[in-house]
Amino acid sequence: NGHAPDDWFVGSIDQGTTSSRFIIFNRWADPVASHQIEFENHYPHSGWHDHDPIDLVSSVEKCIEKATEQFVSKGYDISKIKAVGITNQRETTVCWDKNTGLALCQAVVWPDTRTKDLVRDLKAKPGADKLLDLCGLPLSTYPSSVKLLWLTRNHDEVKKAYEEGRLAFGTVDSWLIYRLNGGKDKNVHVTDTTNASRTMFMNLRTCQYDDELLNFFEIDRSKVDLPKIVNSSHSEAFGALASGPLKGVKIAGCLGDQSSALVGHCGFKPGHAKNTYGTGCFLLYNVGSEPVISKYGLLATVAYDFGEGRKAYALEGSIAVAGSGVKFLMNNLGFVRDSSKVGELAETVSDNGGVVFVTAFSGLFAPYWIDDAKGTLFGITQHTQKGHIARATLEATCFQTRAILDAMEKDSGHKLTGLAVDGGMSNSDITMQTQADVSGIRVERPEMRETTALGAAIAAGLATEGCWTSLPELFDLTHSKPGRKNFDPVGSPEHVELMYERWERAVEMSRGGRY
Ligand code: G3P
Repeated sequence: NGHAPDDWFVGSIDQGTTSSRFIIFNRWADPVASHQIEFENHYPHSGWHDHDPIDLVSSVEKCIEKATEQFVSKGYDISKIKAVGITNQRETTVCWDKNTGLALCQAVVWPDTRTKDLVRDLKAKPGADKLLDLCGLPLSTYPSSVKLLWLTRNHDEVKKAYEEGRLAFGTVDSWLIYRLNGGKDKNVHVTDTTNASRTMFMNLRTCQYDDELLNFFEIDRSKVDLPKIVNSSHSEAFGALASGPLKGVKIAGCLGDQSSALVGHCGFKPGHAKNTYGTGCFLLYNVGSEPVISKYGLLATVAYDFGEGRKAYALEGSIAVAGSGVKFLMNNLGFVRDSSKVGELAETVSDNGGVVFVTAFSGLFAPYWIDDAKGTLFGITQHTQKGHIARATLEATCFQTRAILDAMEKDSGHKLTGLAVDGGMSNSDITMQTQADVSGIRVERPEMRETTALGAAIAAGLATEGCWTSLPELFDLTHSKPGRKNFDPVGSPEHVELMYERWERAVEMSRGGRY
C-alpha cells in the first residue's frame, strides 16, 4: 500500500461523556482507523448524572477490537502499533473495592449536581478560602473531591468499604488503566497530573496529594487508596493492555480530555489557546511553566507534563453545557432527529429574534460559578420559532465563551488573537461565525478535528522509542496540513454588545434563589 517499512502507529482511547472511541494514528498524525460507541447516560433523579463503570470499560474494549479489525482490513500490520494513549472525561468519580476489583456504585459524572447542598456547607467551613490557591479550582459541584465525600457519606457500600479500608478511588483514567491492565491481579492504580489536577486533592505546584486539601474534604488516606500521580507521558507507569487484539501493547500516555485537545492542537507555547465543543465546552489557555491562579472565575490546571521540563499549566474556562444543549433540543423537545441538523434549523432564521437561552442545566460554570442556576429561556414572543430557540442554544456556548475570554484577558493581561477549535459543534459554520463575531477574535478550525484523541496519541508516542520526539516538530507537522478554515469577526460591534448585554441579564435571571 505504498507505506515505508519503518511505518509505525499509535492508538488512542478517548473515553468521553457520551461515547467512547479508539482511533489509530499514523506517524503523520492522521487517523487511519477508528470506531466509536455511544453508551447510556443515566439521570436517576433531578441533578443526578451516572455512568455504569462497566459500560465505560466494555465500550472501550469493543472500540479497540473494531478499530483494529478495520486497521487490519486496510492492509496494515498490528505489530506496527507501538503504544496506546488514554484520554478521558475528567472529574467523573469511580469507586471500587480494592480486594475484588469491582465497582461499588455508579460513576458520578462531572456535571452531576447532587452535591449542591454539601458544597454550600463546605463553603462556610474554615479553610475554604485557601483551596483555590492550593489546587487552582474553586469549590463547586464540579470536581471529584465533593463527589467522593458525598459517596463516603451517603452510599452504603462506599461508606462500608471506606470504613473497612477497602475503598479504591479513581477518575475515569485510573479506572480504565486498572481494568485494561487486568484489574486486581495486576493492581495498576495510577493517574496523570492533568487528571489529578481536577480532583481538588492535588497541590498544583508540587503535583502531589496535599494533606491540607485531603483534610478539608475529610478524606482519610488510611481508609482509601488514591491513585499514584505520574507524568502524562510514561513508558512504564500505565502498564499494558492485558487482553484483546492489542494484548501486550503498552499504555504510554494519559491526559484528561481537555488537556489532550490542547496537546492535539500542539498548543505548546504560552499564549496558545483552544476551545473544544463537546458535551460541555472547555477553553484552555497555555500560561507556561508556572500556574496562574485566576481572580476572575477561571480554573488553574495542569495542561500537560511530559517530563524533562516539558510541562505547562493552563487557565481554563469550563462550560458545562454545549453539545448536551443540542441533545436537549433533540431528546427533550424533539426539534431535530440528528444533532448535526441543529445548525440547519438555526439557519432557518436570520437572527435569534430576541431569544436568549442560558443552558444552565448543571448550574452555571465559568466564569460565573452559580451552583443553583437553572436553565433560563428569555425573550419569547408570539413570533418565536424553533429556529430562534436552536440559534439561542448554539449562541449560549458562544456567549459563555466570550465571558471566559474577557476573564482570561483580565487574568493574563493579554487579549487572545486567535482561538483554535474542535469538537462536535465546531463542525457548524454558523456557530463558529457567531463565536468569532461575539468574541471579536479569529476562530481557527483545522481539517482534522480528532484533536482530543491525537493529544493522547502524542503523549504515548513521546514516551515510546522510535515515535515522535520533538514538540516543535509536531507543531510543524500538524500546522502544515491543508484545509484549515478561519472565521473572522464580521458582525457589527454595536449589535454584538447589545446581544451580550441581554445574555448578561439572562444570566442574572438564571439564579436559583429567585424562584
Ligand atoms: O471536565 C469534563 C470534560 O472533561 C468532559 O469533556 O468532551 O465529554 O464534554 P466532554
